[in-house]
Amino acid sequence: MTAHEPVTLPRDLNQPPKQPEPELRGDSVTADRYTCAHYLQRELRQVWRQVWNIGGVSYQMPDPGDYLTAEIGHESVLLVRQDDGAVRGFLNVCPHRGTRITEAEEGTVERFHCPYHGWQFDRAGTVVAVPDEEDYRDSPCGKARLKEVRCEERFGLVWYNLNCDAPSLEGFLGAQITRELDSHRIGDMVRVLNITADAEANWKIITDNFNEAYHVKVLHPELIPYIAADYQDCQFDLFPGGHNRGWFPAFMPSQQYGSEVIGEPLKSMAAAWDVNSDDYEGRATWSELRLAIQRSKRDLGAERGFAHYAYRSDYQLTDYVIYNLFPNNVITVGPDGVQLLRPRPHPSDPARCYFDHWWLVNRVAGQEMTPSPAGGPDLPVQDAEHEHIAYGEKTLGTTADQDLSIARSQQAGLASEGFQGFWMPDQERRVQAFHEHLNDLMAAL
Ligand code: FES
Ligand SMILES: [Fe+2]
Repeated sequence: MTAHEPVTLPRDLNQPPKQPEPELRGDSVTADRYTCAHYLQRELRQVWRQVWNIGGVSYQMPDPGDYLTAEIGHESVLLVRQDDGAVRGFLNVCPHRGTRITEAEEGTVERFHCPYHGWQFDRAGTVVAVPDEEDYRDSPCGKARLKEVRCEERFGLVWYNLNCDAPSLEGFLGAQITRELDSHRIGDMVRVLNITADAEANWKIITDNFNEAYHVKVLHPELIPYIAADYQDCQFDLFPGGHNRGWFPAFMPSQQYGSEVIGEPLKSMAAAWDVNSDDYEGRATWSELRLAIQRSKRDLGAERGFAHYAYRSDYQLTDYVIYNLFPNNVITVGPDGVQLLRPRPHPSDPARCYFDHWWLVNRVAGQEMTPSPAGGPDLPVQDAEHEHIAYGEKTLGTTADQDLSIARSQQAGLASEGFQGFWMPDQERRVQAFHEHLNDLMAAL
């Protein structure tokens, strides 16, 4: 595995640094991108073949021969740990007559065997044996190969890009986002939730949702008492390449909170760090409460088993930051873990997608169970099996359920003649920026 130097952001940072605000063009956001099968096919070529995506977690494949598969649109990518420890990626397509080499999500092999006629491949994707080799005028052994894709390991995750000429992952994400994600040391975490739901909406309906927080006070009222998600308290930053970041101060109520006195759950969250929230009466004191909890976590974290607080900056002790990595990797970082909230396109139906929800947590000494991200029952601190469900079959976590609850009805509305384009406030400019970058990729030849 490629090791990167551990990164620690300046300790006294109280929020992420503001980026310059680019000028947006004001492109209209057309309905066809959500509803048209022809648009989806062009998108699979012009967008999805150019971007970095996450195939899995590095610790899933520690040893040579370990592999996992990742699906994006109609492609399946085979990610294989090599004998030298690096990961290489291949399109999961047999060069004999096109069958997928494996349908397994993960495994370990000495050689891959195609299930149709039995061609064999080494870990580097080269054909090494075929039945009836003497019957070939020109034997494929040592010559035929799986088609290779770009692959990198970073942040404890395995990334791939279908375009062999793509820039590096760091070039794609930019130095600032790379550094901030490095600082979370995701490679030390364990994935305690790994669920995929079939959803009845275009994937962009879900990314649009994560590109704005305007809906939070309506769709997620239970967050109001402890996350300051109102735009006046947050910071939104647009980065080159269609990526963006949203910062949400937490351990303080949102503007809409209806009392001058701190209630639950924040009262208990403060008490857990020996802070009496009754000492903070009135909205003018709320940001002080957040700072008091940061100080207390800083002082008490190590002795209570929160070893990771030693490399957190101040804001990382309390707040949530959402990184929307173009096009679809939504990574939300919090004080004790990281969520991936990710829609993936359906191969042929623009009105459907797959929604992945991962929750990776820091290990806390003595802690065997961990709170589920934003609602749902506590989860054991151990690697979770992958579950694939239909949306609604079981909870994806309260907040994610609420987000997805709107997706089907928005998909229906966007397909109507009544849809007249978006009419968005400034705080939704991350949605606008996303669509302008999408338009650029879709317009390119
Ligand atoms: S298609 Fe793979 S061996 Fe025939
Ligand atoms: Fe939401």
